[in-house]
Order: sequence, then structure tokens, then C-alpha cells
Amino acid sequence: MILPDMIEAKKRTDKEVLKINYKKNKSYENMGKGKLFYLRTYGCQMNEHDSEEIKGILYSVGYIETLIMGQADLIILNTCAIRENVHDKVFGLLGRVKSLKEIKPEVIVGVGGCMPQELSVSEKIVDKLPFVNFVFGTHNFTSLLDFINDSYNLKQIVNVESIEGNIIEGTPIKRNSNVSGYVNIILGCDKFCTYCIVPLARGKQRSREKEKIIEEIINLKNNGYKEVVLLGQNVNAYGKDLYTDYDLSELLKDVSDTGIDRIRFVTSHPWDFSDKMIDVIKHSPNIMPWFHLPVQSGSDKILKLMGRRYKVNEYISLVKKIRREIPYSCITTDIIVGFPQETEEDFNLTLNLVNEIKFDTAYTFAFSKRKGTPAEAMEETVSEDEKLNRLHILNTLVNKYSSLSNKLLENTEVKCLVTGISEKNNKRYTGYTECMKIVNIESEEDITGKIVLVKILKAKSFSLDGVLVTK
Ligand code: SAH
Ligand code: SF4
Ligand code: F3S
Repeated sequence: MILPDMIEAKKRTDKEVLKINYKKNKSYENMGKGKLFYLRTYGCQMNEHDSEEIKGILYSVGYIETLIMGQADLIILNTCAIRENVHDKVFGLLGRVKSLKEIKPEVIVGVGGCMPQELSVSEKIVDKLPFVNFVFGTHNFTSLLDFINDSYNLKQIVNVESIEGNIIEGTPIKRNSNVSGYVNIILGCDKFCTYCIVPLARGKQRSREKEKIIEEIINLKNNGYKEVVLLGQNVNAYGKDLYTDYDLSELLKDVSDTGIDRIRFVTSHPWDFSDKMIDVIKHSPNIMPWFHLPVQSGSDKILKLMGRRYKVNEYISLVKKIRREIPYSCITTDIIVGFPQETEEDFNLTLNLVNEIKFDTAYTFAFSKRKGTPAEAMEETVSEDEKLNRLHILNTLVNKYSSLSNKLLENTEVKCLVTGISEKNNKRYTGYTECMKIVNIESEEDITGKIVLVKILKAKSFSLDGVLVTK
């Protein structure tokens, strides 16, 4: 049994990152033939992408996905540890899995992702959930087939490594979309914001080699993909651990040169968002003018306690610069309310910031104490009720500006990437703008997978209605 270890998880040394090439064990060739798997994913785009690799591995040995848990021979939960409410959902679902296993004991169940990287979670599974066959973490999901294979012989397998992190190339990927593809560029995180579990759950910041990234993108383009989303917890740190003078702006230039239609990247830490990056984006029409720039709070006092390393004024200057240089850009953000010591006054400063920036949209969260983070030791001063109250006030303001920014698009023509067709109406398609605004598009012709011009007729709070512009 390998249980996670917080002290190991916090370690950052300059030991070289282990690079591994994924290799399938030949004896597993037909392991999943005639079998179905059910995979549930919680968390961020990186976790969704890990799930695409998990699916790729399972398909490579004959498993097929089912969306109905009761039909599955194999159930896998790829979990997220960012806030306590995700824990509740995961353990809730595991309750249902337990009942299912009472009727179908032969079903194999695995729990992986960020949650088991917390010792308390792995221990809880060992102590209370013996029906879970295997528990794995973020560093070793590529050994999935070994875990499944061993599940037929062993009681419970717990293999959650707390290593600084490795880079595994060549894992098969079964992508959720055939239009837009996720591409990891940097794994882990070294920022250690005081509230955040990610540096502990995902290990140290480590960049993939630029050649591997470009090769993956060219492959996607050759397979008809219209968009790539470059992924990392802090993409702005790309290259720092690997090259002396090749950074995210250089990578963006090279990705732009592949000629893929749309390039996006998430997430940027405001602290190291460089002028050079703005310049590259400004001169590359295929890099989308959409910036997800989490601010977290509008109070310098709280930002300092969060360890965010910038001041509100610096954030505002950065946004102004982006807007000046790239006029049609959109800025979205993440905000946490109820951080320890956040007073009414601090919260009002956050509202002031929202009023000043008028974000296109914001993802808002109530602070959730995570074990092992520096904020664990901070005394909670905002009650749960007050957190919800602040969240409600903030969301009302955020929604006002989302609606206003959508309203500005009424009667204009915008380029949309069409991702699918409505289930109810075959003349209605779904897509999104260069700024990630969702659009319902009326069209007589099949436009799935294309980038089309759409006239926006009506703006709603969370989406737009439009019609295909035909020449
Ligand atoms: N790497 C990204 C964010 C990753 S987590 C970044 O630095 O911006 C996504 C969001 O979850 C964060 O931006 C933050 O707003 C929120 N979050 C993270 N930890 C949290 C916690 N303990 N409680 C509440 N929200 C949290
Ligand atoms: Fe968490 Fe901060 Fe790293 Fe983002 S930058 S993943 S919030 S520690
Ligand atoms: Fe959650 Fe792990 Fe992502 S904690 S937000 S799934 S990195």
C-alpha cells in the first residue's frame, strides 16, 4: 500500500524531471474486450484531459464507454480536491456504487485523481470503503491497466505516489471533441497560493518539450481540429524549467505558425503575464483574444494573505494594457469570497474591482479550507452563511456585467466555432465566439465543426441567439 505524504508532496528540488514513454503491456491486449466502463470526471480542464487519456488507455484494450453506471463492468471516478463540496459529491456517488456492488460484486471500482492525493481521503477509502478495488493518484494514472489486472487477485490496491512529478508522453487519448483539443503544455504548480491544494496534488511545475507540443497540435490540425486549448495551472510559467530563452510567448508564436484556426490557453497567473505575450497575441489572428485571468480578490490585504504576489492596482493596469493593445478582448476571472480575515470592507473592495473591470464573466467560489495548505492554519472569520451571502451579492453583480457584455454583441456579426447540433431541433446548432460566449445558431445547412459567421439577434444572460450569415 502506498499512501500519499504531504511532506513529500511539498518538496521542490532541482532534480531532473523523469520523462517516461507510455508502453502498453502486450498481455493486456484484449483485457477489456466485450466490457463496458463508466468514467466520471470532476474538476478542471486538466482533469478532463487526464480522463481523455484514461479513456484512451481503456479503449486501447477493447473497453467501450457507457454513460449508464449500472451497465458498467468497470467504474472509475477521476476526482478533484479543490473544494470540500466536490468531496461530498464523490462520496455521495460512492454510496450509490456500493449499493450497485451489492447486486453486481464483479464490477471493478477505481478512485483516482486529486482527492486520493490527500491522506485523509485515501485513509477513509481504506477504512470505510473496502468495495473500492483500487485507489490511484495524479502521477500514476497511466498504470491503470496494471491496477485493473491486479484487482482480480488482490483485495484493495492503494497506490498514491507523492512525487515531485514526471512527464509521461505517448499515452493514447480518446478525445471528447473532434473540433477542439486540449494539449498539456505545463504540469503541476509551484505558486503555492495559500488556499490551494493543487501544488500538493499535482507536484512541481514542469514543462513539456516544445517539439512534443507542436507535434501534437499539427496532428490535431491534420485530423480536422479547428482549435487547441493549451493547458496548465499557470501557463505563463511555460519553459522556465526547461529552456533559457524560450517562454510562453515563443511557444505561442510557434503554435500560431502551425496555422490551426483557433488557439486558447488556460490558466494565466496575472503575476507573470508579460508584455511580450500581449505583443505576440496582438499580431497572431489565430490566438483568441480571450484571457482567463483569475484575480481572487479586490483587497490587497487578502491578496497578500493568499500569497498571490500582485496588488489590485497592478492587476487593473494589466487588464487596461490588454484592452488597449487588443481592443476586442474579453477578460474572465475567478474570485474567492470569505477568505480568512475578509471583512465587509475587503469584500466591498472586490465588488469595486468588479465594477471597475466589468468582467465578461467570473467564476466565484466560497473559500474552502484544504488540509495541508498554509491557509489551514488561518482562523476562519467569515461564517458559512455570510460566505453564501457574499457569493450571492457578487454573483448578482457579475451576472449584470455578463449580460451587458453579451448585449453589446446584439446585431453584430461574430465568428463562431460550431461544436454540435441541438438534440431537439436539427436546424439549431451550438457554438462559441472567439471570446468563449455560447451561441445558439439557426442554420438550414449543416455547419457542425465549422467556423462560421453568425448574426447575433438576441443576448441572454448566459448565451446568445443568432442566425447563420449566408452570402
Ligand atoms: N491555476 C489556476 C486556478 C486553479 S483552481 C489559477 O491560479 O488561477 C481554480 C479556482 O478555484 C481558483 O482560481 C480559485 O478561485 C478557486 N479555488 C482554489 N482553491 C480554493 C479554495 N480552497 N477554496 C475556494 N476556492 C478555491
Ligand atoms: Fe493554485 Fe495558485 Fe497554483 Fe493556481 S497558481 S493552481 S491557485 S497554487
Ligand atoms: Fe481539482 Fe485537481 Fe484540477 S484539485 S481543479 S482536478 S488540478
